[in-house]
Amino acid sequence: MNHLPDFLTTARGALFDLDGVIVDTAKYHYQAWKRLANELRFDFTELDNERLKGVSRMRSLDILLEIGKFDIGEALRERMSILKDNWYVEYISRMSEDEILSGAREYIQYLRSQGVKTALGSASRNAPLILEKLRITDLFDAIIDGNCVTHAKPDPEVFLRGAEALGLPPESCVVYEDAEAGVEAAHRAGMKAVGIGTAEALPEADFIVASLGELLGDHAAVL
Ligand code: BG6
Ligand code: MG
Repeated sequence: MNHLPDFLTTARGALFDLDGVIVDTAKYHYQAWKRLANELRFDFTELDNERLKGVSRMRSLDILLEIGKFDIGEALRERMSILKDNWYVEYISRMSEDEILSGAREYIQYLRSQGVKTALGSASRNAPLILEKLRITDLFDAIIDGNCVTHAKPDPEVFLRGAEALGLPPESCVVYEDAEAGVEAAHRAGMKAVGIGTAEALPEADFIVASLGELLGDHAAVL
């Protein structure tokens, strides 16, 4: 690809969201949420699922319960989130390394070969399992996930912690995100955001590509 923006070519750190950027786990989240909705006797569509992208597990459950018009207590809410997560883990445990999205592994490897430090910045508490399934744990100098942050995106915590773990100032890091909340989190952290998707879905992103592979351009040939 020609004409990469300066902020991309000069960045010293790269912070990657996981779900929707490196792997398409949305379909597994959808299956598990739909299974929960159906157990509760209401339907949950793929369009509904769009609202859950980049959103924390408990907030996702609240949106789902809102759709089903369920008002439940804290203890039951906790049990439902565990039920959903057990199903989700069952699905992602069957994932193989070829489910990594096009060009993601190669792009991250390319950045590392250029001396760029790399970190994961994901809301998911299942991130370590997913990285292991894709066999890409070693591609990251730091892993910041849902197990170690207090505030979910659009709060900037996950990315600020990522930059800190890499030993870099936030403004020298670039974030790769597929969700609006993640783009907002990047901006609030003082970082530029590359949107993975479309300009319509991510109007605030500083640069848009359909996949990480697109950023490899001519470098693809030398890898
Ligand atoms: C985000 C996903 O990466 O992680 C959300 O986009 C998900 O859909 C969130 O709810 C939390 O994931 P998990 O695996 O901890 O339930
Ligand atoms: Mg995402």
